[in-house]
Amino acid sequence: MKLVFATNNPHKLRELQQLLGDEIQLLSLADIGCNEEVPENQETLEGNAAEKSFFVFEKYGFNCFADDTGLEVDALNGEPGVYSARYAGEARCAEANMAKLLDQLQGKEDRTARFRTVISLIIDGKETQFEGIVEGQILKEKQGDAGFGYDPVFQPDGFSASFAAMDANQKNQISHRGRAVEKLVAYLKNLNKTA
Ligand code: IMP
Repeated sequence: MKLVFATNNPHKLRELQQLLGDEIQLLSLADIGCNEEVPENQETLEGNAAEKSFFVFEKYGFNCFADDTGLEVDALNGEPGVYSARYAGEARCAEANMAKLLDQLQGKEDRTARFRTVISLIIDGKETQFEGIVEGQILKEKQGDAGFGYDPVFQPDGFSASFAAMDANQKNQISHRGRAVEKLVAYLKNLNKTA
């Protein structure tokens, strides 16, 4: 079975291919000749993931999946959420995003937050969604220098270190993306078995 992952991020692609094994061959956007920007104009993670996967399915005719992730902070009514990448502006700068987040939370007692990933899978025109969540706290200052995005200021529940102070394997085992991908992989393996 061939399946497009609507991404050009080689790290995400390699990680997923390893999890899926040989029976499912993953293709990137570049592999199918899609060099245009995939639209992502919705106001929810569910909407964005679906917009991306349906775009590829309808325009290029491949079974496909796409993901979208956001950091939801309770004291900020769920912000930055779907706008996590561009919280401090279109430059998509992680340092500026974290600085804005820490600033918005100054003086607030409630630091609870979660990362949430939604994956939209389209097989023969039918959509199925998978969700992965990790609950945690926004730290008062940055900690660690691994990872990316908001990792230095997010500490998952049950741990005393930020995502950026963990090694990648440990983070992947408990992360939002890891949990959503686990559900996707189980679904695809089962589908392949019954096909
Ligand atoms: P994307 O949907 O995977 O591109 O994620 C959107 C934005 O959420 C990224 O640009 C990051 O700012 C943030 N983000 C997503 N996943 C993570 C993570 O694992 N750690 C830290 N920040 C993340």
